[in-house]
Amino acid sequence: MRKKLAAGNWKMNGLAVSLSEVEALIAAHPNPACDVLLCPPATLVSAMAATAAGRISVGGQDCHMELTGAHTGDISAQMLADAGASHVIVGHSERRADHGESDAMIRAKAEAARAQGLVAVICIGETEAERDAGTTLEVIGRQLFGSTPDAATGVNTVIAYEPVWAIGTGRTPTLEQIAEVHDFMRSELNGRFGSEGAQIRLLYGGSVKPSNAAEIFATSNVDGALVGGASLKAADFGAIIGAL
Ligand code: G3P
Repeated sequence: MRKKLAAGNWKMNGLAVSLSEVEALIAAHPNPACDVLLCPPATLVSAMAATAAGRISVGGQDCHMELTGAHTGDISAQMLADAGASHVIVGHSERRADHGESDAMIRAKAEAARAQGLVAVICIGETEAERDAGTTLEVIGRQLFGSTPDAATGVNTVIAYEPVWAIGTGRTPTLEQIAEVHDFMRSELNGRFGSEGAQIRLLYGGSVKPSNAAEIFATSNVDGALVGGASLKAADFGAIIGAL
């Protein structure tokens, strides 16, 4: 049985004052039925971990594939773990687009995360042009295989399906389209990892909000959500947590 996960990605938003939202969230949902994860910008990981005090999980939004070294501006999985993170998002489409990250790089980052005891939240998703061209499952299959380490398990890995065209746009796929991709991912993971594949949680991400969360969570093989904009406010993210 896979426990549901509500994960928030604050992206490049948030100052120290924003941590009051975390306090409000925890106060409103002291015993959530699902796992809760928030991934603030790196500058807030340590402070958020201190605020959360183990009541919710805290993650980074990216890590370098190497442990340490001459990589100005980068952050390693070890540094995130040192700051109190338990998870890290890798392969978000914004990093694939803005920083030219390949599936191989993302797999290496996920391996670096695992080596430091962090759960890797690996993001994959098709562009609108790829969906229009009818190549969604081909793209998803390639990214899923290429970005996921051979040592992936239900404990060290979460997969997030985020159609690029649904991120921050207010548009979402139909529930049938979400089910098609999630069923496909589950089948691919079962084929590659056997019974362990069935333990890996599959999140949907892209314009999840309080009004559509319940129906998305009820969709086949959806084990939770990776939420962007609606994770910034305790009231909205709390409502999404309540829908799980
Ligand atoms: O990682 C979450 C994200 O890309 C979705 O963003 O704002 O559409 O919920 P948003």
